Amino acid sequence: MAEKILLTGGAGYIGSHTYVALIEAGYEVTILDNFQNANRSVVHRLERLTGKPVSFAEADIRDATTLASLFSEHQFDAVVHFAALKAVSESVERPLDYFDVNISGLINLLRVMDAAGCRTIVFSSSATVYGVPDETPTPETAEFRAMNPYGQTKISGEQILNQLTAADERWNVGILRYFNPAGAHASALIGEDPRDIPNNLMPYIAKVAAGELSELQVFGDDYDTPDGTGVRDYIHVDDLAKGHVLSLAALLGEGQGHLVNLGTGEGHSVLEMVAAYKRASNRDVPYRITERRAGDVPVYVARADKAEEILGFQAEHSLDEMCASSWHWITGEHSSEDPGPENEE
Ligand code: NAD
Ligand code: UFG
Repeated sequence: MAEKILLTGGAGYIGSHTYVALIEAGYEVTILDNFQNANRSVVHRLERLTGKPVSFAEADIRDATTLASLFSEHQFDAVVHFAALKAVSESVERPLDYFDVNISGLINLLRVMDAAGCRTIVFSSSATVYGVPDETPTPETAEFRAMNPYGQTKISGEQILNQLTAADERWNVGILRYFNPAGAHASALIGEDPRDIPNNLMPYIAKVAAGELSELQVFGDDYDTPDGTGVRDYIHVDDLAKGHVLSLAALLGEGQGHLVNLGTGEGHSVLEMVAAYKRASNRDVPYRITERRAGDVPVYVARADKAEEILGFQAEHSLDEMCASSWHWITGEHSSEDPGPENEE
């Protein structure tokens, strides 16, 4: 019988792609999301994409009563926990909201899981836990350095899970530290859907290429990198989704807990990203060099060998594929039957 998975935050960017990968891998998946940062149409799009009805609950991870009733109804074998707030600058302005959703929400979920006897969880962590790392490519052994409240919530989440596993060996935990997710599903039915002006580079470039924003501000060209602009390890969101399938298989199969980076091991600068997006879109991407953005890290690149060794994970998609799929999504082929992400609630 298919194993049953609860996917919190499953209507979001990484969650929706992971939903498709889990369904393709034969899991029975229920999405829980409160739509704080997702579009309701994602559920219909996932139905079109998979050709199956979506099992879905509109709820908040801090709502223990609803969570408990979902667990008793579905008897989940494992949870993949994406639901969180993720905007770094917002976390500096509203730290309590971030602690509430990302830390209290996690604790609430773990309590309900414990009571239901479901103790297998995949947790979304981030390269942000490394702060400004001493070493690049950065290995999983690099120390924790919180740069902002958001980063602190990911460090706290990992520590809570580690201490829980130490206290009770029935817990089985996969911690995945994502580098910079980019791109969209090849169908162009799901993708990154920022509510406002994007904070992140790829969705911002996409809107400049589409003519919705006039120019990209490149935050600093005086870093110690080949062209002076910030370098990141961009990973296709479908590769990330595959990483979750492998993580779950390791946890539910041999019961092998793990902590791994999910990246490609390769870095690209902001200007390389601009050039790649221009190639993919065949549009101009005007840009202007400005001051460094406060709190930015010069280089984030993953040491990617541990995920390969433990999970057999290897990223397959190139930067050009990330840009092409983003462009395909942003130019709205997806909107032929559904309203597009900008003009619906
Ligand atoms: P997203 O905002 O697209 O997805 C998160 C989903 O969680 C959204 O659908 C949102 O509506 C939902 N949600 C938020 N608060 C909730 C609550 N209280 N109850 C129920 N649902 C709630 O973000 P994403 O980019 O898909 O990120 C998913 C996870 O990956 C997050 O934990 C994030 O911190 C982590 N992560 C993201 C990145 C990135 O650059 N995108 C990098 C590293 C780690
Ligand atoms: N950048 C620009 N202009 C922009 C946006 C970004 O020049 O308009 C630059 C940044 O300075 C950086 C690079 O593009 O050098 C990437 O910036 P992003 O905002 O896309 O990504 P970050 O690496 O800063 O942060 C992201 C997530 C964090 C996460 C981190 C590491 O937003 O939550 O990746 O995984 F912690």
